[in-house]
Amino acid sequence: MARREKAIGKDVVISKAGGIGLAPLRPAMYHLISQRNQYGKIVILYGARTPEDILYKHDLEQWRGRFDVEAQVTVDNADGNWRGDVGVVTTLIRRAQFNPSRAIAMICGPEVMMRFTIVELQNCGAGEDNIFISMERNMRCGIGFCGHCQFGPVFVCKDGPVFNYGCIKNFFGKREI
Ligand code: FES
Repeated sequence: MARREKAIGKDVVISKAGGIGLAPLRPAMYHLISQRNQYGKIVILYGARTPEDILYKHDLEQWRGRFDVEAQVTVDNADGNWRGDVGVVTTLIRRAQFNPSRAIAMICGPEVMMRFTIVELQNCGAGEDNIFISMERNMRCGIGFCGHCQFGPVFVCKDGPVFNYGCIKNFFGKREI
């Protein structure tokens, strides 16, 4: 079943931290909002290093302003003008209003962040087959040729970059892979 169909009727949680901001997950958010009535709760949890590192602020503000979307933002290091949350993005999971046992989660960020996010989601009752992670690492050729993106038995460029956690859990997080 396609990821999109799998999410229909469920709560959807998007968790993103660091790197290139929301870019990889913005299209998913746009789709969810355009088909809003097909989904349960929609939650976006976004973490940045500092307030200056927050990208796509306009999108985040718009989502925060909706009654049918929960958007939470946190930073690792705040400055004096920051009035929001401080801390890693995983701390937002327990506060978010969704039902983990009937939620689809999409995660994108540094591998260590994704690992902690997965643990937190599973501790809350999320199923491993309902967790999708987007791998961004080690891309060079992009066509399955150079081997730089090899990740266990798969290639991120050819087989991903989005993977179902249940399918890759045996080698996800292993440094030497
Ligand atoms: S980027 Fe070269 S094999 Fe994937």
